Amino acid sequence: MTASDPRTISSAGGHDSDTHPDVEAWVAEVAALTRPARIHWCTGTEAEAAEFSRQLVDKGTFVQLEDAPNSFLATSDPADVARVEDRTFICSDTAEQAGPTNNWMAPGRMKDLMTGLYDGCMTGRTMYVIAYCMGPLDAADPKYGIEITDSEYVALSMRIMTRTGNPVWDKLADNGREVEFVRGLHSVGAPLQHGDADVPWPCNSTKYISHFPQTREIWSYGSGYGGNALLGKKCFALRIASAMARDEGWLAEHMLILKLTNPQGKVHYIAAAFPSACGKTNLAMLTPTLPGWKAETIGDDIAWMRFGDDGRLYATNPEAGFFGVAPGTGDATNPNAIATLAAGNTVYTNTALTDNGGTWWEGRTDTPPDHLIDWLGRDWTPDTTTPAAHPNSRYCTPIEQCPTVAPEWNAPAGVPISAILFGGRRASTIPLVTQASSWEQGVFLGSILSSETTAAATGQVGVVRRDPMAMLPFLGYHAGDYFRHWLEIADHTRSDLLPKIFYVNWFRRGDDRRFLWPGFGENTRVLDWALRRIDGTADAVQTPIGSIPTLDALDLTGLDVDRADIEAALAFDTAEWQQEIPLIDDWYASLDATTIPVALRGQLAALAAALTDT
Ligand code: GTP
Ligand code: MN
Ligand code: MN
Repeated sequence: MTASDPRTISSAGGHDSDTHPDVEAWVAEVAALTRPARIHWCTGTEAEAAEFSRQLVDKGTFVQLEDAPNSFLATSDPADVARVEDRTFICSDTAEQAGPTNNWMAPGRMKDLMTGLYDGCMTGRTMYVIAYCMGPLDAADPKYGIEITDSEYVALSMRIMTRTGNPVWDKLADNGREVEFVRGLHSVGAPLQHGDADVPWPCNSTKYISHFPQTREIWSYGSGYGGNALLGKKCFALRIASAMARDEGWLAEHMLILKLTNPQGKVHYIAAAFPSACGKTNLAMLTPTLPGWKAETIGDDIAWMRFGDDGRLYATNPEAGFFGVAPGTGDATNPNAIATLAAGNTVYTNTALTDNGGTWWEGRTDTPPDHLIDWLGRDWTPDTTTPAAHPNSRYCTPIEQCPTVAPEWNAPAGVPISAILFGGRRASTIPLVTQASSWEQGVFLGSILSSETTAAATGQVGVVRRDPMAMLPFLGYHAGDYFRHWLEIADHTRSDLLPKIFYVNWFRRGDDRRFLWPGFGENTRVLDWALRRIDGTADAVQTPIGSIPTLDALDLTGLDVDRADIEAALAFDTAEWQQEIPLIDDWYASLDATTIPVALRGQLAALAAALTDT
């Protein structure tokens, strides 16, 4: 018996492997290299998921929760809690193609290096073969992926986050060799030699998250954390897809998709890009505070946008679940997320455990329980000085359980976008909301988007960094080329059919460090102004970065806040912007200013000139 033929390795059951000749050949090749004990072709059925959960409970990875059906808590290795940007590589043919914002290694060299790591890395483990589709299965151009992994946690999470299993295998079989798929190989990098006992969270201190945009491949090694290991999400739907989108004339973006119905019954769909842990999931599940408004959820993290035959930009959510930040999610801030979780079928990672078998994290309730087991497995009481949950603890839960999910969330053609919002976490300078005066100015504002860093990635928290279109960690190619693509996409349609672009900042602070704007559900008031701008009925003042609402143009009915705070949140402060200009210069210089499209350099020059004139 040779390990090179997967059918000779004892099968742990699952889908019939005679499905797609290219998949079979690739699986055989990977099995020969990684040498798993078993191969399991994932069916995506409930019975299979139950079996994976049982195995994960048995080996101590999962604790079964008692407060919701079919829900589990995993606590990770303390060193494997977030995306590892310094270990993430874009292996295009040349370093120039990856650009200065990405780590780069030549594809051949990376493959040699990682082939060495993958050699025998699945020894003693089961290799899972997961077929998935990013976006609706009935889309005109469905995008398929195959992930090979040696982690049951990943297999179970992929079933929540993507359309997966038998229906996808059937589609692949129907379409035969014609159909393309992204090859994603993942290993935790922890082979089990003869008789080794497994640990609850296997991983390796050596980590590589490598992308090969030219050949549409992903090789991930050493981490079990979602953003590094669920390859459909950041790796495919953003990094690889951004390169596909450039080649095929569409956009793959780090954006939520929200349906809004105003009191007159008019529907608008909006998309919004905020950096990690800056409010996408919260806004996607908005509970409107203005009477008569309805908000429905289509996606909370990623939007794929293509022009329709009518010339409008249509967005689909490539995912089928939420992988949301737990801390800060509570009944007051995001009751719809809490209701989604109450329906069960959820995998939590790195939250705290309550004494009655539930989960807790900072912000879940105002007062913490008297006793918890923290994410590191230690006793925790309100006197403990360290957080009970890791700041980047997450929940992974199906979108269909969300009480506000829009019926059209799975519509094959997507939904037409009226407005695109860019936003970040800035204590100063950036007004609550600004409408760009043109697509070009909107792309400029997106290109200079900045935010204070959060716990969603390893590294220092709270430092201002540029995060263009909230895509800095997710660009599959050169940032300057990406800006050019954003500018050129406008040529696909009439300018009046393009979405209007807005720049928002829910996080501006007063001198006392207090947030000036109440945020969360009250963000409805900002969206109401933005949509009335589109419908032509809201007042604004012109500034060098676009139009800002007059205080009276914002509907503040029933809002119990100091008007001075709102004024300060809305202010365009010339002095602050004058300080911002050299930072933007530095940012563009760091990309090599010659790679920045002339139109954007022109926008920057015009802004700088306007600031000296005032
Ligand atoms: P990823 O899933 O990592 O891409 O992040 P995300 O953009 O979905 O972030 P999320 O919605 O989970 O926001 C996380 C943090 O932002 C939490 O600490 C929230 O409390 C905070 N937050 C969200 N919306 C608001 C708001 O309107 N105002 C303020 N002040 N905080 C907010
Ligand atoms: Mn995200
Ligand atoms: Mn989110």
